[in-house]
Amino acid sequence: MSDNAPVRRRKATSNQDSGSLRKNDQKTQSQYQPYKDAEWGFINHWYPALFSNELAEDQVEGIQICGVQIVLRRVDGKVFALKDQCVHRGVRLSAKPMCFNKETISCWYHGFTFNLESGNLDTIVGNPDDKLIDTTGITTYAVEEISGMIFVFVREDDFPDEDVPPLSHDLPIRFPESSEEYPHPLWPPAPSLMDENAISRGIHRTGEANWRIACENGFDNAHILVHQDNTIVQSNNWVLPLGIRPVSDDCITTFEEEGGPKGLMQWLFTDRWEPILENKKLGVKVAGVNSRFYRTSVVMPGVLMVENWPEEHIVQYEWYVPITDDTYEYWEVLVKVCATEKELKDYEYRYKTVFKPLALHGFNDCDLYAREAMQDYYADGTGWDNEQLVDTDVSAIIWRKLASRNHRGIAKPAKGSQGSIKSSSIRLRNITDGKSPGYRVDKIEE
Ligand code: FES
Ligand SMILES: [Fe+2]
Repeated sequence: MSDNAPVRRRKATSNQDSGSLRKNDQKTQSQYQPYKDAEWGFINHWYPALFSNELAEDQVEGIQICGVQIVLRRVDGKVFALKDQCVHRGVRLSAKPMCFNKETISCWYHGFTFNLESGNLDTIVGNPDDKLIDTTGITTYAVEEISGMIFVFVREDDFPDEDVPPLSHDLPIRFPESSEEYPHPLWPPAPSLMDENAISRGIHRTGEANWRIACENGFDNAHILVHQDNTIVQSNNWVLPLGIRPVSDDCITTFEEEGGPKGLMQWLFTDRWEPILENKKLGVKVAGVNSRFYRTSVVMPGVLMVENWPEEHIVQYEWYVPITDDTYEYWEVLVKVCATEKELKDYEYRYKTVFKPLALHGFNDCDLYAREAMQDYYADGTGWDNEQLVDTDVSAIIWRKLASRNHRGIAKPAKGSQGSIKSSSIRLRNITDGKSPGYRVDKIEE
């Protein structure tokens, strides 16, 4: 017999209930079927669209969220968002912006002209008496702009205007309002995007994976292993555990009250979680000496909050905004309250010299490749059935169930938009031209 007998995956035996060991047996899985169905994301939620400084006065930009193409235009400071798909023959208005006044946007192809406020077909440039005028239009989307970010309520065409919830329902919980419920003895209360004088600084970029894989990575307490060698960790001599294990049934609290964000909070760096600093069997030990306490929570539709990160008085928000079923826009945003010009200047300097290169890139770049590395396993849907989860993965399971209970709609697979046909010749041409599938519309060059 060969010494190199192949190692076989262990199979369940009759007296061993592998289902319960795996933590995600069929019964558990059935509780998050809607989440498994949400390949294209959850619709009827607020998502970040652009940073404010990415949309100057009168600028027009096209993006895609949950398979929905959206065009944004800023007029007299106000941002309008409409479906970026002409009702005539379906081209994207943003591909070659044409605007004759402050109230409308016209399609560059045959001149269908839509009202920015209502989406109504107001006229047709070269056919002003056509019967179709004033009988049709395109969907509009509610917009909120706060602390340097533009948010859009991405909805189904028939989602009623009056049911659009406030943006705060799709943002992380706030402090000090939540301080009593979620005390933070190891750090000052985290700031919020909604605070007065809150400043957001960050980046967004396209990741090549399904949004759920990306989102789960954000608050996965075992994945911290991939960050051990990161420059920001080693240069600060941080004690970053090898992993963090749940040791109590109340290690995670969910919140699902009406009229507020729906999500979960992980009680990290309390006695409900045990940081693992050594693996004796492998002779591996954490080397750092400086503590770096933080806490993660996640709210619908997939917004991560890392309190006290990358340093005190700063909070990191992340969004994993579905573009297609195999791409997402990864938003990494640091928020700090800067009440004076001097504070703002100091923060900007530190953002540019430390946080952006070492935290948003160095540290988080590892997350991008880890998510991409998972994509093939989950892409055809079988990964959800075949994964073998352990106790640390309790976070993902609780999140999947919570999302299944609290979403406002499952986005349908895109039709007639970018990414709906994976092997479309345009997608393939872009790839061979070295352009990866992206978030923003490619403008037509003349
Ligand atoms: S496709 Fe827009 S006017 Fe024809
Ligand atoms: Fe990470």
